[in-house]
Amino acid sequence: MSVKINIAIDGHSSCGKSTIAKAIAKKFEMCYIDTGAMYRAITLYCMNNNIIIDQQVNLQKLKLHLDKIEVSFHFNIETGKSETILNGKNVESEIRKHEVSSFVSIVSQIKEVRDKLVVLQREIGKEKGVVMDGRDIGTKVFPSAELKFFITAKAEIRAQRRFDEMKKTGVSFQQVLDNLLQRDEKDGGRAINPLRVAKEAIVIDNS
Ligand code: DC
Repeated sequence: MSVKINIAIDGHSSCGKSTIAKAIAKKFEMCYIDTGAMYRAITLYCMNNNIIIDQQVNLQKLKLHLDKIEVSFHFNIETGKSETILNGKNVESEIRKHEVSSFVSIVSQIKEVRDKLVVLQREIGKEKGVVMDGRDIGTKVFPSAELKFFITAKAEIRAQRRFDEMKKTGVSFQQVLDNLLQRDEKDGGRAINPLRVAKEAIVIDNS
């Protein structure tokens, strides 16, 4: 009988976490969950519902809306890729836009948002067989995951990879780099579930 495990993959933005996670999931027939996509989906919801005004989240309004926000994933058999669904709508490409990246840090530092998503992530992983990537998977979501990785890479290399993916959108290399550095700072500096290397994690420099 095979034994099911959960694998937690944490690390900095755009360091190749999801590529590694997807490859592991494919090879071992596990379910891949991109938790960054969940934070991005809630950010997009806030942007579309005037919850972010003047670069700030209206917390009172967000609290009124939180129960109405449903984030899930749909596996597209044709493309072989998982797509993010926000309240029934496929938002996979919208959540990758630079504007969402520029607001996601302020949304993902809100306790109520994190509490909601951690509950959902634990529910998804309760039967095991999940490869989950994010910032707090090994430290908070699945502290007892059987296998943990922490992936990092030099900022310029991460920015170059992201820039190559986004060139067509007109965004500049400097904008991508600045956004990455800001997100590194916010991910590591926030009070709730900051990005940390879990005690048992295998650290990989993917530069
Ligand atoms: O993995 P990503 O770059 O798509 O994630 C987008 C943002 O979401 C990232 O800047 C930090 C936040 N995030 C988080 O706070 N906790 C997670 N588990 C995953 C992502």
